[in-house]
Amino acid sequence: MSQTHFDNLQLEIAAPLATITIHRPQVLNALSPATMEDLDRAIAAIRERQDVRAVILTGAGDKAFVAGADIGAMATITPIQAQAFAARGHAVLQNLEALPVPVIAAVNGFALGGGCELAMACDILLAAESAIFGQPEVNLGIIPGFGGTQRLARRVGVGQARLLTYTGKRIDAREALRIGLADQIFPLESLLEEAKKLATEISKKSAPLAVAACKRLIAHGADIDLATANAFEVSTFANLFASQDQREGMAAFLEKRKAEFKGE
Ligand code: COA
Repeated sequence: MSQTHFDNLQLEIAAPLATITIHRPQVLNALSPATMEDLDRAIAAIRERQDVRAVILTGAGDKAFVAGADIGAMATITPIQAQAFAARGHAVLQNLEALPVPVIAAVNGFALGGGCELAMACDILLAAESAIFGQPEVNLGIIPGFGGTQRLARRVGVGQARLLTYTGKRIDAREALRIGLADQIFPLESLLEEAKKLATEISKKSAPLAVAACKRLIAHGADIDLATANAFEVSTFANLFASQDQREGMAAFLEKRKAEFKGE
């Protein structure tokens, strides 16, 4: 197991799992520009590791996942600086989405503004029953800047996205589950354990190239027409028959034994 302490987050790698914990408890884990740089470094470190099969992303403490972009750091910036901050935030979240392994958000409290946006950039969103979600930017005179208008609308539909972004209102975990913002909810005490259980199940039972292919197809398919997306599915399906894991997975089934996938 390895632990790397960045200024604003911790990265723990206990292969096959990696866990990123945003750690700025004094500001409820708010995302400063430096935090986004640390996040990008952690993502790059994970990308280097062939033995990592799933990532968990959470916040330090039991009150907040991430309470938003750091308002203190944004209060006096110029439009040019705001442009750079939002563009960089988008780039980091795209790097997170581009990891070939599943990223599971374990939303352990407030996920507001940038926190909600960060959670939505993950593949699967697990939340504590005590979690609170929202895009409160309009209450501060701005709009979401890390993909909130876009990923939220794609995730919950334009109607719910309008309700949330126009009012800035906060919703609890049950409502987040109802509208499809959260995928599953658990008591806070068992949230991390459930996230690890899911990550471990994917790591142990599923062929890595196949999971990466599902991830790619679902992500890209959302933005293109169905016929083109289905054509990508056909070619990706075919390509996997060139993998050792396909031969191993099917042989193991026929020989009634557990498959040993290598990601090759
Ligand atoms: N940026 C900077 N600092 C933040 C922050 C943010 N997004 N969210 C919380 N903090 C800080 C608070 O200023 C406070 O600092 P202080 O102790 O020096 O006063 C500390 O974190 C604790 O927050 P506090 O507001 O005292 O906790 P609370 O339990 O009363 O309220 C929230 C919790 C999350 C409801 C409230 O902090 C909040 O509304 N935060 C901003 C949410 C937001 O608008 N996010 C989108 C930003 S674009």
